[in-house]
Amino acid sequence: MDYHSRSVYRTVYAIAMIFGLLSIVLVLIWTVKYLGGFAWQEDPLHQFNYHPVCAVIGMIVLYGKGLLLYRTMHYKPKIYLKLLHTLTLVVVFILAVISLKCAFDSHNYRSVPIPNLYSLHSWIGLVTVIFYSAQLLCGFVSFFYPGIKTTYRRQYLPYHQFFGITIFLLAVVSCHSGIMEKVKGSLGKEYLNMPAAGIVANFLGVSITIFSILVVYLAAMPQFKRNPLPEEDKFQLDLQDHVIQLP
Ligand code: HEM
Repeated sequence: MDYHSRSVYRTVYAIAMIFGLLSIVLVLIWTVKYLGGFAWQEDPLHQFNYHPVCAVIGMIVLYGKGLLLYRTMHYKPKIYLKLLHTLTLVVVFILAVISLKCAFDSHNYRSVPIPNLYSLHSWIGLVTVIFYSAQLLCGFVSFFYPGIKTTYRRQYLPYHQFFGITIFLLAVVSCHSGIMEKVKGSLGKEYLNMPAAGIVANFLGVSITIFSILVVYLAAMPQFKRNPLPEEDKFQLDLQDHVIQLP
């Protein structure tokens, strides 16, 4: 990455992080101030509020940061980046599981239980988490399992990158449809009058959208690709997809 690209990357990344942080602040304001805060299974209505909070922190902000790790910390050794990328995505997975548990519990533990998986949001959301889990497993096997041939790893890498970004976009779609579902359920017709809760929820959707556009731009543009460090063996598999050069 040349000097100009690096400064563009840094600037766009800083703006993206501002919107990431704003999304976390907005989801907390919405759930604490307007949706009544948090509880566990004894109060399923408020247990639900962990669902959007964990989804936004995990599947949006942390996932977005995790996607960009190789480019953001390009100066670190490859093995360090691989471990940190994996660790970040495992934390995202844990938050996704907590988020789903709270959504399902909030249906099942009501005095009159609500049916599960009836909405478009719940279908897209479930597909997102299933794809995410499969991607995590495939990534782990391909890049950490010692028996895998380097040629297979190299062939798999572009698919890993493509699905990484696609699943991130699915998470954004899930959040948008989820926000609408909750706004509709909690405000009903009052939403038409633009109450504060509705405006906060709208801004949350806008903030997630801007964050995700910036993340995809930084993750997809070739000029921001990480170059191998001088000390990295050029005969080693380069997981950032540069071609192995023979002497
Ligand atoms: C990646 C992010 C998300 C995923 C994967 C996801 C997934 C799911 C799933 C699978 C359900 C079904 C639970 C059940 O049937 O018992 C659900 C329910 C729900 N989610 Fe999300 N969700 C996400 C983000 C959000 C966000 C940000 C909100 C905003 C408040 C939200 C609001 C809702 C609501 C209101 C329900 C209950 C109604 C329904 O089943 O559609 N979700 N979610």
